[in-house]
Amino acid sequence: MNQKLEANVVATPHHNLIIRFATQADLPQIAHIAQITWNATYSDTIAAENRRDFLERAYKPENLASAIDAPGHWFYVVELERELIGFGHFLRRYHRTQARAELVRLYVLPGHQSLGVGTLILRTGFAALAQAGVEQCFVSVQETNTQARKFYERHGFIYHRKHGQFLGTQIVVLVQYIRPISESGIIATP
Ligand SMILES: CC(C)(COP(=O)(O)OP(=O)(O)OC[C@H]1O[C@@H](n2cnc3c(N)ncnc32)[C@H](O)[C@@H]1OP(=O)(O)O)[C@@H](O)C(=O)NCCC(=O)NCCS
Repeated sequence: MNQKLEANVVATPHHNLIIRFATQADLPQIAHIAQITWNATYSDTIAAENRRDFLERAYKPENLASAIDAPGHWFYVVELERELIGFGHFLRRYHRTQARAELVRLYVLPGHQSLGVGTLILRTGFAALAQAGVEQCFVSVQETNTQARKFYERHGFIYHRKHGQFLGTQIVVLVQYIRPISESGIIATP
């Protein structure tokens, strides 16, 4: 039995949400959530063919398989009544002097947003990162994604820099945030 998986299952009394580590069997459902949520979030800012090509490549189950139950990866899914409704993936990033990680994906199905799922994933992830000795967590978010930016700022992420990144035939402008990870993993949020 996977010790890491067992140790980190957390159930919340609210909305019967269960957070646990993703398994290989979850990958098709994760790809489905990504597709729906990407299309709802980025339809005005990312061209349809760029969205499609990115999703096909990044969420192909065989391309995500190495992130499951692997050292340096914390890949969570949230279940509501046995259905997956969101996921978040933290990844250790090498740095010479500082223990760093990055939140590389965080997606909650549109019909289940603003119910605390994103917060649950962040809090669980921060606590795990703190336990692993990580000192800073990075996240990059599209500059125009004001809802997500507000969400991260509320959760202690501090603006670091702006950078452009190719996404197929276009360049998207991303804002990178950094959040210190305290020993307990939790920084008070309003
Ligand atoms: C951004 C995202 C991950 C946040 O997840 P979420 O589950 O909606 O977040 P939460 O419900 O925890 O918090 C969202 C808001 O609801 C509020 N909220 C939290 N729990 C709540 C509850 N029980 N009832 C009502 N509101 C609640 C919070 O105040 C929060 O407000 P804020 O966004 O202004 O900080 C999610 O909305 C999402 O997937 N968006 C589209 C994709 C995306 O942009 N992903 C990030 C890419 S970098």
